[in-house]
Amino acid sequence: MSEKAILTVGDQRIELPVMKGTDGRLSIDISQLHAQTGLTTYDPALANTALCRSAITWIDGEQGVLRYRGVPIEQFDQAPSFVEVAWTLIFGRLPTRAELDHFREQLTANELLHEGLKAQFQHIPADAPPMAILSASLSNLACFHRQFIDVEQPERLVEAAARLISKVRTIAAFSYRRSRGLPFIYPDPSLRYCANFLHMMFSLPYRQYEVSPQIEEALNLIFILHADHEQNCSTTAVRVVGSARANLFASCAAGVSALWGPLHGGANVEVIRMLERIHAGGMTPEQCIRDAKDKTSPFRLYGFGHRVYRNFDPRAQVLRRLCDKVFADLKQPDPLLDIARRLEELALADPYFVERKLYPNVDFYSGILLRGIGIPTNMFTVCFAIGRLPGWIAQWKEQHDDPHSRIIRPRQVYTGPGESDYVPIDQRS
Ligand code: SDX
Repeated sequence: MSEKAILTVGDQRIELPVMKGTDGRLSIDISQLHAQTGLTTYDPALANTALCRSAITWIDGEQGVLRYRGVPIEQFDQAPSFVEVAWTLIFGRLPTRAELDHFREQLTANELLHEGLKAQFQHIPADAPPMAILSASLSNLACFHRQFIDVEQPERLVEAAARLISKVRTIAAFSYRRSRGLPFIYPDPSLRYCANFLHMMFSLPYRQYEVSPQIEEALNLIFILHADHEQNCSTTAVRVVGSARANLFASCAAGVSALWGPLHGGANVEVIRMLERIHAGGMTPEQCIRDAKDKTSPFRLYGFGHRVYRNFDPRAQVLRRLCDKVFADLKQPDPLLDIARRLEELALADPYFVERKLYPNVDFYSGILLRGIGIPTNMFTVCFAIGRLPGWIAQWKEQHDDPHSRIIRPRQVYTGPGESDYVPIDQRS
């Protein structure tokens, strides 16, 4: 028997269908509510609203579980391959070896930037925010690859996805090189995805950067852990733009802009700033906790809390363990890691955080790891975007392939004035 929800408003009694996900969770289907009753529901941050049906990623916020196409993220740490996870998210299952090899070839074939797109970097100020460069460059890909503005044919989408995933590394590395006044290092087709990114970031014309296997593995895992996360803020931005049938490049550029926010992907930068301030003696961990609880201060304990997780973010757990491994391999203890551990210990023992179920999220340890690899702080959110790009593409494709998808256009609760007349300017007080 299918479940029903009964809504009584005044003398109206409305029966609403109830949907059940494959996880057994129930959602009240209000998709016909306004058409049938003229009523709307109010949910300003969409915290109670399912925007879509999706089969890509699943989170259990209470248990701290995250699965990509059903596979728990912890299982991807066996010889982690970001490219394999990207294919899995976009195409819905684990690839065969032949499919993975073909995808790798497509990424290699598309790793260069059009020289016209490369030229834009010369006119960008050296201190330009890398996320601004990334968002603009992804949008600009539509100028140099106009054949992918119309991605109605499936093979066009696969090609556009491979170009995006491959070129995002090159764009990111070139923006870093520009910021340091260094010559651009072209991609090396003999290198795997993450090794090539590190090569473009850190090699010099006269000396190839030697990528250690541990660092390459760590970066694969960091990108994997950021690859998708249900209907988060930036993914919702990608879906909203894509719902108007805007092209994939423009939709992902919107995702970059949303991710830039300090409450979202920009938090990994704020975490390091917070830890460095404590390390420099600007404040103590105890003071940091006090400030985070002070409602008169906009300061928050960055890297803590989450809209969905009411337990440890499983990604933070993996990253925390990865920190131990990487810093042991590098044989360089990081004082910021000790400070992060101290902050975590204080917060998890503090009723303010415990009562609100605020735990470390993906951003709490990711910055420490990226910093340990040698990635500069202003590139952290760019690295988050590189990791998240396959998720944005997968979500955009899922919506694009859905024959029932419509342009996303919410309603509002109007609080403005009633009808009023125009007053000519010389008659206004
Ligand atoms: C990401 O959605 C996703 O999946 C995002 C993401 C992904 O992979 O895409 O997981 C990536 O964005 C992780 C989050 C990174 N952001 C930060 O670390 C910034 C610090 N965190 C907070 O700003 C906050 O926790 C959010 C933004 C993450 C969640 O915000 P919510 O769900 O709107 O929670 P809220 O602001 O309503 O907080 C509830 C209460 C409030 O206090 P009260 O009004 O109950 O007194 O908890 C407090 C908040 O003030 N609170 C915090 C806090 N987070 C929440 N207080 C201090 N420090 C914090 N970090």
